[in-house]
Amino acid sequence: MRLGVDYYPEHWPEERWPTDAKLMREAGITVVRLAEFAWCRMEPREDLFDFDWLRRAIDVLAAEGIQTILCTPTPTPPAWLCERYPDTLPMDWKGHVHGFGMRHHRCLNGMGYRERSAIICSKLAGAFAACPHVIGWQTDNEFGCHGSTFCYCDNCAVAFRAWLKNKYGTLRDLNRVWGTVFWSQEYISWEQVPLPRYTRGGWDSHSPSLLLDYRRFASQQQVEFQAEQIGILRSESPGRFITHNLMGLFNEIDYFQLGEQLDFVSWDNYPFGAGANYIPAGLGHDVMRGIKQKNFWVMEQASGPGGWNTFAPTPRPGQMRLWVYQAVGHGADTISFFRWRSCRWGTEQYWHGLLYHDGEPRRRYRELQQIAAEFKKLSPHVDGTEPRADVAILNDYDQIWAMQIQPQAHDGLHFEKLMRAYYAAVKRLGADADVIGKHADFSPYKLLILPPMYLADQAIADKLRAYAEAGGTIVLSLRSGVKDMSNVVTDRRLPGVFASLAGIKIDEYDAMPRDHNTVHLETTGRDYPIQLMADIIDPAGAAVAGTYGSDYYAGRAAITANSVGKGQVWYVGTVGDERFYDDFVGALLGKLGVDRVGPPPHGVEIVRRWRGSKPLTFVMNHNAIEALMPLGAECEDLLSGRRVSGQIELEPYGVMILEPR
Ligand code: GAL
Repeated sequence: MRLGVDYYPEHWPEERWPTDAKLMREAGITVVRLAEFAWCRMEPREDLFDFDWLRRAIDVLAAEGIQTILCTPTPTPPAWLCERYPDTLPMDWKGHVHGFGMRHHRCLNGMGYRERSAIICSKLAGAFAACPHVIGWQTDNEFGCHGSTFCYCDNCAVAFRAWLKNKYGTLRDLNRVWGTVFWSQEYISWEQVPLPRYTRGGWDSHSPSLLLDYRRFASQQQVEFQAEQIGILRSESPGRFITHNLMGLFNEIDYFQLGEQLDFVSWDNYPFGAGANYIPAGLGHDVMRGIKQKNFWVMEQASGPGGWNTFAPTPRPGQMRLWVYQAVGHGADTISFFRWRSCRWGTEQYWHGLLYHDGEPRRRYRELQQIAAEFKKLSPHVDGTEPRADVAILNDYDQIWAMQIQPQAHDGLHFEKLMRAYYAAVKRLGADADVIGKHADFSPYKLLILPPMYLADQAIADKLRAYAEAGGTIVLSLRSGVKDMSNVVTDRRLPGVFASLAGIKIDEYDAMPRDHNTVHLETTGRDYPIQLMADIIDPAGAAVAGTYGSDYYAGRAAITANSVGKGQVWYVGTVGDERFYDDFVGALLGKLGVDRVGPPPHGVEIVRRWRGSKPLTFVMNHNAIEALMPLGAECEDLLSGRRVSGQIELEPYGVMILEPR
């Protein structure tokens, strides 16, 4: 366990650096992240390089025992670069060229930008190749931030066509797969294939197949750009880890692909405004851990009121510490705060760090000192432990994109809505969840929950069947098996490739207003309001577990359960409310003997890290008021050193880390 901070020596007079470094050491900081936006200081003019200032900063920090993670500065091409290579600046879908003056103002297909990026990466890596204080690299900063996954310029059009050519081989095949005969869109030359630019409809009036391929292409552009940097860093600066600061629930890049070449994933966590709702940050952590199915870092952890021209409430006493332990509980091994000192200039003047602009250490600094002292005590217990779960929830960017392109129900049937609904229920019930990709091994899990597998092929159906046959329990969601991987609707009876697995046939489906109908759940005997959509099911081997309450399909099957080998496949043909998911998932967890603690009271989160069969239970009160939590056997709270049992009392934003006694 270690603590770090994001530091910008280029924002402060050099005379201040030793004071900062000393204060950092005294607070327990052992690592800093530097230079992700400092290109104009590293290369003030084309081919004029200056890394001396950076070397001096690294040395000042090292003198206080602080190690450095260096970043490639590529999200901020300097003014000279954009002037010299104007096609650096990206274009939006309406044809407007973005001006200079922000960050991420770069098109990855601007060849001048691309070339200069490779040069600055290689010069920087070379300059610090022998520096003992540099322990690792961060590529760029938050790929895709501010919508920068997408560009619609002519260079991108050329690259998109090349990507398509590589994928489809011939135009005939592209026309066939996309079904371009619709509205007379058949292409007779590659140059005719458009980017999804402005049309008479919205962006989503293009062919869904073209749109999905564009999303995949745009994501892969980022992945390939990073791969180029990683290649440079591995060869010019060997022996150091490489990570990137991802953005949790951000969904414009396929994070499984982006994470593939990294040694571990890091992410930037700003849980402002969440209050007692710990679900989004918790899910963010679990999504991040799921990318490589291993522990991760938080590279930017909120440490002050954040915002640009307006800002969020100041973290309450104890809240920053709570966010740190939440991250650790979910599998973070290093937490780096954003940022050391609030900047006096620029767009982020009001994105506050640990210190205010005056640079004096006060309340948040003291909280940092407390966390650091606790980390020292906790390290022997926590280092080497990892979260583990009986329940897995599937995450899949192809599905997310396809359902963004066509949300179907007016209020939007989104993949992530279901992912979040199930995740929240699992957490409210006191269990842990892994959030995994479709290439992961499903076999360690008792329960596998799938938000709509809207796009599907035989391979995923076969993989799920094998998992169920071996004893796994699957929950499939409505609108699964509707399309093939090219975003084309199947000509089979729904749920397409999943029909025999689920033992059902969909007769009809209905999109509906909120609270228009109900579902009756056999296991609880209760009725629940439903929303968005309803699959009206004909069982074909499966048992009926829930039925619709009204309309012309009253009494028809909404939820089914099918026995497959030693396992079971549930199909939930609609979207329920919170109580529905709690009851439905709760019954499954009970039946499957899923290990859990609780359920905890409102706003109290439970996560566990394990060493072998020994758990460390993190109990976290996200409420601004005290909370009481019933506990079974006696444990030691590693933070306070006290033995606790029976009912435990948590102060506002209080945390306990419990080791069984
Ligand atoms: C992140 C970014 C940081 C800083 C921070 C606060 O998105 O990586 O550079 O901008 O947010 O806005």
